[in-house]
Amino acid sequence: MNFYAAEAETYSLHARGATSKRLDPFLATLPAGAKILELGCGGGQDSLVMLTRGFDVTSTDGSPEMARQAERLLGRPVTVLPFDQLEQADIYQGIWANACLLHVPRPKLALVLARIHRALKPGGVFYASFKAGAAEGRDRFQRYYNYPSREWLMSQYTPLVWMSVEIDENSGGGYDGETTAWLHVTAVRSA
Ligand SMILES: C[S@@+](CC[C@H](N)C(=O)[O-])C[C@H]1O[C@@H](n2cnc3c(N)ncnc32)[C@H](O)[C@@H]1O
Repeated sequence: MNFYAAEAETYSLHARGATSKRLDPFLATLPAGAKILELGCGGGQDSLVMLTRGFDVTSTDGSPEMARQAERLLGRPVTVLPFDQLEQADIYQGIWANACLLHVPRPKLALVLARIHRALKPGGVFYASFKAGAAEGRDRFQRYYNYPSREWLMSQYTPLVWMSVEIDENSGGGYDGETTAWLHVTAVRSA
């Protein structure tokens, strides 16, 4: 969080042209105008796409500095919401968490996933992406990462009741400029 507080403007400008390629397939699973929660929205570029397409988006980030950056892009309020303070139940048809739950400490991830599961409507779709690895650690900016394996990540989802949980992998980049293996998880809450 220290990194995002200090680098909010620089990080937001860097990310502005980097909308996730997974966003279109995620939105295609949702009805027109669906209610979507974005967690860890950063500079707000993915929320902007969702809003432009007519979805009912609640944009949030745990960093007040990042939330202010997103507000500048979106021209609307962005809620400061740490993942572990999500209290809503049965509200959202979609929850989008691109490259942000990777900062949740391993011992807290199951709790955060349970809160996300509770916030989804039955049949709601939840996307999250993680940098893959074998053990938690920090990058060269001292940002904490949980760096899960596919198996460990699946074990964090399975205690909850999902209709489906799918994980696919690719090789991609990040703000640190390093080539990284990514895990992309799409989970559908049971109806
Ligand atoms: C790697 S950035 C990704 C931002 C955006 N989703 C994107 O794809 O560009 C991670 C974001 O997660 C936010 N974040 C980190 N820890 C958080 C927490 N505990 N609760 C909520 N947001 C958090 C950071 O402030 C930052 O905006």
